[in-house]
Amino acid sequence: MTQRAHRFDVIVIGAGGAGLMAARYAAQNPNVRVAVISKLYPTRSHTGAAQGGVGAALGNVSEDHPEWHAFDTIKGGDYLTDQDVAESFAVEVIEAVYELEHMGLPFSRTPEGKIAQRKFGGHTREFGKSAVERACYAADRTGHMILQTLYQQSIKDQVAFFDEFHVLDLIMVDGSCRGVVAYELATGELHTFHAKATIVASGGNGRIFKVTSNAHALTGDLMSIAYRRGIPIEDPEFYQFHPTGLYKLGVLLTEGARGEGGILRNGEGERFMERYAPTIKDLAPRDMVSRAMYLEIRDGRGAGPDKDYIHLDLTHIDAHIIEERLPDITEFARIYLGVDPIKELVPIQPTAHYAMGGIPTTIDTNVISDGNDTIVSGLYAAGEVACASLHGANRLGTNSLGDLIVFGRRAGINAARWAADEPFGDLPKDAQDASRELLSGLRSGSRKERVAHIRRDLQDSMQDNASVFRTQTLLDTQVGILAELKERAKGIGVEDTGVQYNTELMEAVELGFLLDNAEQLVHGALNRQESRGAHSREDFKERDDTQWLKHTLIYRDGDGVRIEYKPVTLGKYEPKPRTY
Ligand code: FUM
Repeated sequence: MTQRAHRFDVIVIGAGGAGLMAARYAAQNPNVRVAVISKLYPTRSHTGAAQGGVGAALGNVSEDHPEWHAFDTIKGGDYLTDQDVAESFAVEVIEAVYELEHMGLPFSRTPEGKIAQRKFGGHTREFGKSAVERACYAADRTGHMILQTLYQQSIKDQVAFFDEFHVLDLIMVDGSCRGVVAYELATGELHTFHAKATIVASGGNGRIFKVTSNAHALTGDLMSIAYRRGIPIEDPEFYQFHPTGLYKLGVLLTEGARGEGGILRNGEGERFMERYAPTIKDLAPRDMVSRAMYLEIRDGRGAGPDKDYIHLDLTHIDAHIIEERLPDITEFARIYLGVDPIKELVPIQPTAHYAMGGIPTTIDTNVISDGNDTIVSGLYAAGEVACASLHGANRLGTNSLGDLIVFGRRAGINAARWAADEPFGDLPKDAQDASRELLSGLRSGSRKERVAHIRRDLQDSMQDNASVFRTQTLLDTQVGILAELKERAKGIGVEDTGVQYNTELMEAVELGFLLDNAEQLVHGALNRQESRGAHSREDFKERDDTQWLKHTLIYRDGDGVRIEYKPVTLGKYEPKPRTY
């Protein structure tokens, strides 16, 4: 008979880079048993889609220092980054990269055999003088290699894996976390995982938008579950659009392409980024480049018959460099658009890519429940689902992989240390009740509405009203649309009555998560009356440090939301106007 009640000292939700790093480091502690629960087979996790590199000031190609990396991260984040977090990150990521190398990660190499490094957006030498080679890469498959390496190591370290298990609830008792309830896709059964420490590392929520680089699984599940359980979401209004998604499809073409010398051109063939960022041009941070692209299109200088896209030009780069360092994206352009980047310009548009906000944590990955850093005992978070306030209002490229390995490692070590000394708390008898109710409600719904239709309407409207440029009118409209979509979602019914691999049922659950994530983002964006980083309000064009140099915390409050704030940790870098 299947065992449906499990006990582990540490459980990790998610098997991407942060989850596997956490699991592996927790498993180094001989006194704890560790399990990973993932809704995918681990090596299908979205970290595998990360391409261009992990930023670390190794200085293998030219001089570099962690202070420069920390400064770039803070400035890139438009000064909403907590400066203590950025400073410790920039040091620790160097050690974490060498650890990955020692675990066997096959990095590309310099001619002398060192880890190869290339330029990436917003990464500079000497506090902004020019672009620096900081991204450590494995061709354009860096995330894929991280995932494979960490999965092998986790197996070696005897981490237990529960693949294709969807987490539906956090078990919370008196404000502390005692584990999770999860649905097993293969059998349709609910399982209870009793744990001393739970690490959330379940990734982002890019599927709230229509054009996205994010895989289908990225539906913000734990950002919604935590929110439903009274934990706030920090800074959800800051959502990053990556400049180079394949036109209409959103498939990622790495920023590493511009790091290798690629250029963005408008429909007139002009290298327009020279006008927007005269010093580092095409390697400006993503928020600036994505906005510049839309401004070019809006002013009638887009490319193509409808003048609605931009070109990525790699044709001047040696073919062997493209084939050797950018093999995957070259294939993507050939397969999906029938365009050969070695000879032709590639049509691109900004694509929804990364949530800077998420479940708020301390610098050590403990989840917090308010602006006073009150710790939720037994609960940790790392990676895109979390917000340690490293990325501020705009993340620099390559700092996502850095975030996974640094904060995943911290979470694993801290959670295991805590769990080793802690007794198991009691589990409530009704731990599965909310999950049962959720599933039975969806199974017995009226079927007036279809999940796919509501999801499409959500993604289309979020793209139109809450993406790169925002106004009060657009956001008010979107608040109204979300209320209607939530009402319509009450009329969903699941037709598949089967218990094995009932993906229709899981998509209905995920729709609820997506709607919650959209609500968090839109209310955060409506509330913040300034423009900062990736949050660009056309009705409040300036950054306003007097009113808004603070983090948002959004709580669910009945049918609405409540907003509180958390101070930004400043340091030696005074907020200045951001020029590049
Ligand atoms: O462009 C890229 O390769 C993406 C990297 C990232 O989001 O950090």
